[in-house]
Amino acid sequence: MLVERAYAKINLTLDVLGRRPDGYHEVDMVMQSVDLSDLLWIDKSDAGIRIESGASNIPLDERNLAYVAAEAFLRKANISSGISIGLEKNIPVAAGLAGGSSDAAAVLRGLNRLFATGYSLDELAELGASIGSDVPFCVYGGCAVARGRGERLQRVHHQMRAWVIIIRPPVFVSTADIYGALTPKQMTQVVRSKSMIESLMDGDFERMVGLVDNRLRPATQRLYPEVAEYAERLSSTLGQPVHMSGSGPTLFLLAPNERRAQRSYNAIRGFMKEVYLCRFI
Ligand code: C5P
Repeated sequence: MLVERAYAKINLTLDVLGRRPDGYHEVDMVMQSVDLSDLLWIDKSDAGIRIESGASNIPLDERNLAYVAAEAFLRKANISSGISIGLEKNIPVAAGLAGGSSDAAAVLRGLNRLFATGYSLDELAELGASIGSDVPFCVYGGCAVARGRGERLQRVHHQMRAWVIIIRPPVFVSTADIYGALTPKQMTQVVRSKSMIESLMDGDFERMVGLVDNRLRPATQRLYPEVAEYAERLSSTLGQPVHMSGSGPTLFLLAPNERRAQRSYNAIRGFMKEVYLCRFI
C-alpha cells in the first residue's frame, strides 16, 4: 500500500484562442498548484478496481476519473491485478480546481510506483491526456503554461509562494456548457501567459495579481448569474479583485503574506461556507 497526494490547481490566466475541429478549444493558460489536496491510498487487491471514499457527492465507478486512470494504467502496463483505492476528498468537486483530474494523475503516479513499472512522468502525462485535458498538468503539478486543449505543457519553475483564499460558491457548473457558450469575441489571439510567467519569475506579486484573468468568466457569469453576485459581494466586502478558476464556479483571492491572507479568510468565513486558505506550491 502507498499514499499519494493530489493537489488542486488554480488558473492564473486562461485565454481561449478558438474552437477546434475535434470540439475542444485551443487554450493558453497558466496553471498553478496549491496545497489543498486529496489523499489516496492505493494497493493491489484480488480483482477489479474498487474505490472507497467517505465523500457522498462523488461516483465511485467508471464515472470517477481515478477509476478511468486505474483502468488506463492497467491496460497500458498489461497488468491483470485488481486495485483498491481509498480516497479522502478535500478538494471541492466540479469546481474548476481539477480535483478529479488530480486524483487521476495521483493514481497514475501511484500505480507506477506500486508496480515498479518505471514510466517517466512524460509517459504518464501522455497517458493522462486520454483521460482529461487537465490530467497531464496534474501529473507534474507546480506551475506550467498549458496549450493545445490543456495537455501541451511548458513547465515553469518560480519561487513565488503567494497565499490563496479559495471560495467555492454553492453553484454547479458544466465545463462543456461554458466552453459551448463562448462567443467569437471571447476568443482571442492575445495571450497573457508570457507576462504572467515574467511576473512570477521576477517575484513581483503586485504585477502578477494585476495580470490574473480568465476568458471563461463572462460565459460562466452569463449562464450562472449567481457566480457574478458572489464575486461582486466578495470584492466589495474585501476591497480587492476576486478571480475565477477554470470554468468556475470557484473564486479566489491572492495575498502576498499570511497575515493578509488570514484577514481575508476570516472576513469571508463570516458569510461563505466553503472557504480554504492555501498557498502556491
Ligand atoms: O477534457 P475534459 O474532459 O476535462 O473536458 C470537458 C469538456 O470541456 C470537453 O468535453 C469540452 O466540451 C470542454 N473543453 C473544451 N476545450 C478544452 C477543454 C475542455 O472545449 N480545451
